Amino acid sequence: MVTLTIDDKQVTVSKDATIYDAAKAAGIRIPIICHDKKLQPFGGCRMCLVEVEQMKGRQIPACTTPVTEGMIVRTSTDEIIKARKMVLELLLLKHPIDCPVCDAAGDCDLQNLTYEYQVNTNRFQDEKFNWKIDYENPLIERDMNRCVHCGKCARICDEIVSFGAYSFINRGIQARIGTEFDGPLNCEFCGSCVSVCPVGALISRPFKFKARWWSLNKVKSVCSYCGTGCQLTLGVKNNEVMTTIYDENQGFHNGQLCTRGRWGYQFVNSEKRLTTPMIRKNGKLEPASWDEALGLVAKRLGDAKGSPDSLAALVSPRLTNEELFVMKKLFKETLGCDNIDHAGGYSHKALTAGAKESLGYAGSPSVIADIKKTNLLLVIKTDAYETHPVLGFEINLAVKQHGVDIRLLSDKKGKLSKLPNAQTYVHKAGADLLLVNAIAKVILDESLHNAAAAQAIGGFSAWQQSLANCAIDQVAAQCGVDTDTIKGLARDYAAAEKALIILPTGMGYPGHGKEMAQAVINLALLTGRVGKEGCGVLILGEKNNSQGAADLAIYPTAGGKEAQAILAGCAAGSIKTLFIAGENPVVSYPNRSQVEKALDAVEFLVVSELFLTETSAKAHVVLPACSFAEKEGTFTSVGGAVQRINPAIKAIGQSRSDLAILNGLFQAITGQPAYANSAAAFLDLAATVPGYAGLTQAGLGDNGAIRAVSGTATFVPVPAAVPTSEAGKFALVTGSALNHCGTLSLYGEGPMLVCPAGYIELSREDAKAVGVKDGETVKVSSATGEVKLAVKVGSRVPKGLVFAPYHFADSSINTITSGNAITWVSLAK
Ligand code: SF4
Ligand code: SF4
Ligand code: SF4
Ligand code: FES
Repeated sequence: MVTLTIDDKQVTVSKDATIYDAAKAAGIRIPIICHDKKLQPFGGCRMCLVEVEQMKGRQIPACTTPVTEGMIVRTSTDEIIKARKMVLELLLLKHPIDCPVCDAAGDCDLQNLTYEYQVNTNRFQDEKFNWKIDYENPLIERDMNRCVHCGKCARICDEIVSFGAYSFINRGIQARIGTEFDGPLNCEFCGSCVSVCPVGALISRPFKFKARWWSLNKVKSVCSYCGTGCQLTLGVKNNEVMTTIYDENQGFHNGQLCTRGRWGYQFVNSEKRLTTPMIRKNGKLEPASWDEALGLVAKRLGDAKGSPDSLAALVSPRLTNEELFVMKKLFKETLGCDNIDHAGGYSHKALTAGAKESLGYAGSPSVIADIKKTNLLLVIKTDAYETHPVLGFEINLAVKQHGVDIRLLSDKKGKLSKLPNAQTYVHKAGADLLLVNAIAKVILDESLHNAAAAQAIGGFSAWQQSLANCAIDQVAAQCGVDTDTIKGLARDYAAAEKALIILPTGMGYPGHGKEMAQAVINLALLTGRVGKEGCGVLILGEKNNSQGAADLAIYPTAGGKEAQAILAGCAAGSIKTLFIAGENPVVSYPNRSQVEKALDAVEFLVVSELFLTETSAKAHVVLPACSFAEKEGTFTSVGGAVQRINPAIKAIGQSRSDLAILNGLFQAITGQPAYANSAAAFLDLAATVPGYAGLTQAGLGDNGAIRAVSGTATFVPVPAAVPTSEAGKFALVTGSALNHCGTLSLYGEGPMLVCPAGYIELSREDAKAVGVKDGETVKVSSATGEVKLAVKVGSRVPKGLVFAPYHFADSSINTITSGNAITWVSLAK
């Protein structure tokens, strides 16, 4: 620790601190423009100049100067004030000073500092810049005339996003931020650069001229897309979510968001929102009152009480914990119906079956913070970046700033493969399980495991025995990764002081869940790495509350039907009433024609939804539901963080929260509501759901709390099938597109502007063989159907493998997939 004096105040800070950090710790404000706590020190703007007595009063930047023992610092002498005024005069020299039409006005460091330092004249004179403004992308307007050369955009895009879209071009006074070949911006559109730009040089186009910054009501909440659980602040005016507001103090991610979180909010106020209940009359959905709609549904559910097998529910893991809890109470406890499931019945299995059996709880033993604390990250599938982009930022930071060694076991390369020293072991499609078992076998054969820890865990001998016939040479030939590489990877994993495995899951990954989770948990148990900091396994539930749905057991637990069996029951006529809350199985579950047949066949289909989706359009009763921005409650993120969402706007039209809808049904059936409000539901939840004990909504505050996990671990043998192939066909794997999450983002203007439709990715070699070029359309056919998709040609996928995202309703990929991890397809021009 180091003690120094700043403006006559003594402060003791760590020896790695800068003068700026020390001043902040002492409650002394030093103005900054180019400094950002998340980024490497830059020292470009000189706004933070201070004087240090030992340096004979020299002016030095506080943000880059380390503290030394006994330092005496002055932050606001007359000379310093003069110097800062001059910095501002120089910054204003070529700046257009067009604050009246600048979206950043009120939230602009240059404007605020100019006001604070009363720079109302300028001793210097020069012509203004006349750089062409970049309007050529849908989301970010780039006006370099307003730029103050702080470099934050280039630094965040490089250091955190790891995209590297910007750099300084030109020299001297002509220097400015430019893109590759100075062309229009074409990047992943996360908006991180917009969030850190201290002026209006980079602004959000969807928000432009919508509202003044100071007129917005700012409401803290949590992103409702993926399971990363990014906290966000909604900017609200006139009952409309106008934008997301950057707050660098929010969450583990310092306020950074991805395209969906930053620009996907428009679904909340979409004109397509359902505003009134609807009842099908004479084959047509007609507006109805809540009393009529709820009465009809309650009667149907109540009548089914005696025959719960005729009833089923498919529930979205986007609902809050409280809503899921009431759903479970209504179906499982009140109606005696265990036919309840979510996420296709398979995308939660890594947690609800794999981890549950291997660890004794349906969750990960690790948390997001472990990513930066580990030494070696073993990521299964490069898709972890696409499924959970801001968690991907954490991976980028771990590798680039903390020197974490990253290894990727994947059927294709991806963005994470480009990280410094990243090694991607590209295996044949469907060989991941085989490979993970082989790594375990090498560790066992070479006695690299933690024998004491492993032998103390149940099932060790049986599991070891299950690997007896695993011959590494044979596996190498089967999976396409050579023997030495497998052995090298196993040795590196075993030797790392701390190692963390990341396993993405989701609707795009059928057949990938339970066994993969168990195989990687076996690896972590073998090396004694479960329950240690920076170690273990992090299973990435797909949606905002996938982990909550797993914790609350929103799946059959007493012999009921899983999602696919529920749909089969609908088609066969044994299930007569199906309640769907927020799911869109027609687009997101495998085998679209079968899903449609099932929904067309069921006698009574009720859907609570925000939109008239491909699924709700088939319903007999449609109940308009509120979005996350209109209700309160909690979501549980992938690392087990339970976080609060807060109502930012009043309900759209007559829509009601799923809690209110379910409470209404509960009251109609039992004579009383399930709970008075969401806080009361959470209290009961905390009293009954393992790990949530002691938590209250109020106690969660703005930061949330990690719920506890506990259970008895056991080794579970996981037989791995040898990958197959079909002559002349391509292995189609599905997954997530970077800008989308589920089907909700189809209603978000931002994601749709940058990624409006489905596509199929194939290698250059295969594109040439098929005779298609980038952007052209290809006919993709499988045993179950055919779709036409735009072609993306690139180096990400290997020869013989093609990839397609699953989100899109038009030419939906589930037309040709049927729930296997790999679908064999033919491609034709
Ligand atoms: S939007 Fe994201 S990827 Fe694009 S330039 Fe900005 S920081 Fe980089
Ligand atoms: S565009 Fe904004 S963030 Fe980038 S250098 Fe200019 S002022 Fe800084
Ligand atoms: S979609 Fe996921 S990663 Fe992106 S902002 Fe939302 S929670 Fe974060
Ligand atoms: S904030 Fe310190 S030099 Fe810019």
